[in-house]
Amino acid sequence: MAKAFYITTPIYYVNASPHIGHAYTTIVADVLARFHRMEGDETFFVTGTDEHGDKIAAAAQSAGITPQEYADKISIQFRNLWPELAVANDYFIRTTDKNHVETVRSILQKVHDAGDIYFGQYEGYYCVGCERFYMEKELVEGKCPDHQTKPEYRKESNYFFRMSKYQEWLINHIKANPEFIRPERYKNEVLAFLREPLEDLCISRPKTRLEWGITLPFDDKYVTYVWFDALINYVTAIDYPAGEKFKKFWPVAEHLIAKDILKPHGIYWPTMLKAAGIEPYQHLNVHGYWNSDQSKMSKSLGNVVKPLDLKDKYGLDAFRYFLLRDMVFGLDSNFSEEAFVQRLNSDLANDLGNLVSRTITMAIKYCGGMVPKVKKEKYDKRLQDAAQKAVYDVESAFGEMALHKALIAIWEFINTTNKYIVENEPWTLGNDETNKGKLMAIMYNLLASLRAVAILIAPFMPGTSQKILHEIGAGDNQQMSLAAITKWDALTAGSTLTRGESLFPRVEKDMTEKVEIKSAVDLKPEIDYEEFARVDLRVATILAAEMVPKSNKLIKIKVDIGEERTIVAGIGKDYKPEDMVGKKIVIVANLKPAKLMGVESRGMLLATDTAEGLTVLSFDREAKTGAKIR
Ligand code: MSP
Repeated sequence: MAKAFYITTPIYYVNASPHIGHAYTTIVADVLARFHRMEGDETFFVTGTDEHGDKIAAAAQSAGITPQEYADKISIQFRNLWPELAVANDYFIRTTDKNHVETVRSILQKVHDAGDIYFGQYEGYYCVGCERFYMEKELVEGKCPDHQTKPEYRKESNYFFRMSKYQEWLINHIKANPEFIRPERYKNEVLAFLREPLEDLCISRPKTRLEWGITLPFDDKYVTYVWFDALINYVTAIDYPAGEKFKKFWPVAEHLIAKDILKPHGIYWPTMLKAAGIEPYQHLNVHGYWNSDQSKMSKSLGNVVKPLDLKDKYGLDAFRYFLLRDMVFGLDSNFSEEAFVQRLNSDLANDLGNLVSRTITMAIKYCGGMVPKVKKEKYDKRLQDAAQKAVYDVESAFGEMALHKALIAIWEFINTTNKYIVENEPWTLGNDETNKGKLMAIMYNLLASLRAVAILIAPFMPGTSQKILHEIGAGDNQQMSLAAITKWDALTAGSTLTRGESLFPRVEKDMTEKVEIKSAVDLKPEIDYEEFARVDLRVATILAAEMVPKSNKLIKIKVDIGEERTIVAGIGKDYKPEDMVGKKIVIVANLKPAKLMGVESRGMLLATDTAEGLTVLSFDREAKTGAKIR
């Protein structure tokens, strides 16, 4: 029966460009939305950007533009990225939108009128990265556990939301609705947190310190705390309070987040809703973190993986497949390009790609390029049952948000179909006219299986699904739903079969160098930070220099880097040895020794070409002999 389905992603901060973490959450939401649309459910899918607060104000200041200009610039990057990843959201919300600002102010007023907001004094540790206060005991060695930075100590008068008042109610609600926060580990985390007394939430910032926010309706010297503002986006987007959408979609709201923002969503948000007289959301679905090279992705580590680079290199559907297949929903996953390529080659090129290309090639050859006419009695029961099982498993996987399980179930069916080809050996039947009936039946069953696959993968890989449907001659008016999958007679006899290009060409090993970021200059392939860190660069003081006998280019240089050593450099045409002595230069100190015209060189100096010849890297301040260069 058709139902309503409302899915949200976090609204992303506009202080950094999107990476695969953001792409993952949004693609999961997209798959869920596509699945529910396919099932005929009335679906609303919202994503957007979170634009107020200290973090954005600071980023704008360092970029030398206004916060609004800054927010506009980054917000559009998110908005433009989604269609490139085949994300079809129904609405894009920005917290600077006028209707959102009004909704936040009306909810604040309501909660204030009800007596749940009061004025008080706050002292505490504030992490700007998290945009929240920490209790001393939550800090690890005095630092924010998430950002590893020392929070600021802040003392100021502010407004508070009486969150503590709703602690018991929240505990009871979570216990009475065991799926409210899922998977279970995150429910337990929230309950563990609620075992301690809940403090009231500071929900304002004085304009003397921060102006970039929504002015409180009851005190214009203050702006709203960014989380109290941001969470409300989920109801603004569906026209709270009076809109039709709010009535239809709020009771079925599914929030999707990663574990980093569990506390605001698992604790602040339900208590805010309760205080505002709004029913709680239906489910909070929490996934784990994508790490890169086993550590958290961050700009400073230089290990941020960008979605468009992967899409451009390997194709969109391969990228979507990998993200969804490789992460067990709820657990962390490590991104590695090698694992990506392995999956692409095995699951996509081998299993799915081969199935499609073999089937179409044979069907064109044996059935005259058309879907053959076959009687119902010839439908293969085993394939139909396998398709039915896939439908069942996919449905239950979607029910628990376990998208990786849905893909595993679909691949079981793909492999059953591949086995069917091997067992029936259509190519041996093709040689004998008397086997024609049997051969047509096999080909029809294979084409019907491809149709089932195309529908099953549609939410995950919409482009590939369309290509397969086109190849098997299924018209645009295909019924795309789980119920339609096992309709084995849905292909029209006589429709034209088309051989398309290979869906997923194999990727050879040497292509798996790290993704290259496109650049205007001709750069070498990217390396990660660890690779760079293996190069030991040092400040070297030149003690002596002389030409290598019989060479007009090589100079033998004795340097001090805390120990003495000899290096040989090809700079003899541009420098006189005697002019080099006393200079401080940069050398690669851990390069394997090499012999140049009989002289062993233990290191290499750094230089670059100029119009007047080579110039050796030096310093414009006094550098210490042997110092590391970072
Ligand atoms: N603005 C807040 C959310 C407000 S929602 C009312 C925020 N923004 S964020 O830009 O930091 O986005 C956090 C979210 O981005 C995570 O919860 C997750 O959905 C996604 N991810 C960001 N990095 C991630 C990984 N490395 N791995 C998986 N998802 C991650 O918090």
